Parts: sequence; C-alpha cells; structure tokens
Amino acid sequence: MADINKKPVSHSRTTITELMLPTHPNIDNKIVGEVLLSQMSKAAFACATRHTNNFCVMVSMDDIEFVQPIEVGEIVNSKASINYVGNTSVVVGVRVESENLKTGMVKHTGSGYFTMVAKGDDGRPTNAPGLVLENEDDVRRFLAAMIRKEVKLLGKVQFNEKIKKINVFEDIKKLKKERCEIGFEW
Ligand SMILES: CC(C)(COP(=O)(O)OP(=O)(O)OC[C@H]1O[C@@H](n2cnc3c(N)ncnc32)[C@H](O)[C@@H]1OP(=O)(O)O)[C@@H](O)C(=O)NCCC(=O)NCCS
Repeated sequence: MADINKKPVSHSRTTITELMLPTHPNIDNKIVGEVLLSQMSKAAFACATRHTNNFCVMVSMDDIEFVQPIEVGEIVNSKASINYVGNTSVVVGVRVESENLKTGMVKHTGSGYFTMVAKGDDGRPTNAPGLVLENEDDVRRFLAAMIRKEVKLLGKVQFNEKIKKINVFEDIKKLKKERCEIGFEW
C-alpha cells in the first residue's frame, strides 16, 4: 500500500536556542554536558513530535559527542532534523553549535542521534509518517542512520557473546597490561 502520509524533512526541522548564563551549571565558566544533553533531547522531542503529531518517547541516544567547550555568555543552538523513519520510531540527528555574540564566531560543539518512538492515545507505539528526502544531505543522513542501526545491532550481538564468555579466573591475566590493580584479597 502506498504511504500517502509522508512528510518532508523540512516540515519538522527544529532549533532550540538558549543563552548560557552564569546560573547554568558550569565549571570554570564552561557549560557542563548535562545542560547540552537536556537541550539536545528537547530539540529531538520537538522535532519527532512535529513529524509524527504524536508525543514521542526517547528509547536510545547514540554517538553523543562533545567536541569543543562552550563558554558562559555564548548562545547555544541545538538543530534537530529527522534522519530516518522506521515503523513507529524515528531517528533525530541533533547538531549543537555555539555562537560568541561579540565576535559572531560559530563553533560546532557537539552532536548526537536520538531514537524516538511515537505513542498513540492508547499509550502504545503507533506508526510514524514516512519521510520525503529533499536533498543529497537528507539521503546521506538516511543511509547513515540505516548503517548506524545495523552496526549497533551487530555490536550488541557481539558484545553479548563476548561477555557471556568472560572467565574471571582466566581473563584476569588480561588486566596486567591495564591501568588497574586488584585492591582486595583474591
Ligand atoms: C518505547 C517503548 C514504548 C517501546 O515499546 P515496545 O513494546 O518495546 O515496542 P517495540 O518493540 O514495538 O519497539 C518500538 C520501536 O522502538 C524501537 N526500539 C525499541 N528499543 C530500541 C532501542 N534500544 N534502540 C533503538 N530502537 C529501539 C523498535 O525497533 C521499534 O521501532 P520500529 O517500530 O520503527 O521498527 C517502550 O520501550 C517505552 O515506553 N520505553 C520507555 C521510554 C521512556 O520512558 N523514555 C524516557 C522518557 S522520554
């Protein structure tokens, strides 16, 4: 059946902007990660809810990175757009930029990918509209999201297989090269 209920990426593109004040949690005038993560997740929520017209809940955050510090007094923009649509889930990519108001310099300070699930009035996951990709970047982001999903799933399977095989008595030898020591009687 044709999916007539598609929406373009531009329909739900969302930016949340905030001035970083001295009252924001900070250390040495640099804004702490929780402030940025909070703004990023609000942008992801607003973007996913705009796309689906249903309240969305977050199921997963992936590849969260903070690459440069943000100073008190800078403006922070969290720019969110739908990268991928599954059945009931959407992946929202969020790019964080800070702007120095005096110099006008804009820095890319972080990014992350939020999987959000649309919930219907009955509280159960409900189908999200499909996505109209409007340019080459949208296509690249959709393909990248497919790869991220596949790699994550594969990584999860491999991780679970490996941790099942941990033999503490055998594997303790591996710690010799690590920067730790056994601090109790073995
Ligand atoms: C989100 C939630 C409703 C999913 O319920 P569920 O019964 O597991 O539903 P499903 O298994 O059908 O999964 C729904 C979708 O989520 C996706 N999903 C579930 N877990 C996921 C994970 N860890 N990472 C990525 N996607 C995930 C599924 O792939 C599916 O996507 P699709 O429909 O596009 O294929 C449920 O897990 C929940 O309520 N979690 C708590 C959310 C929350 O409170 N978040 C914090 C506050 S916003």
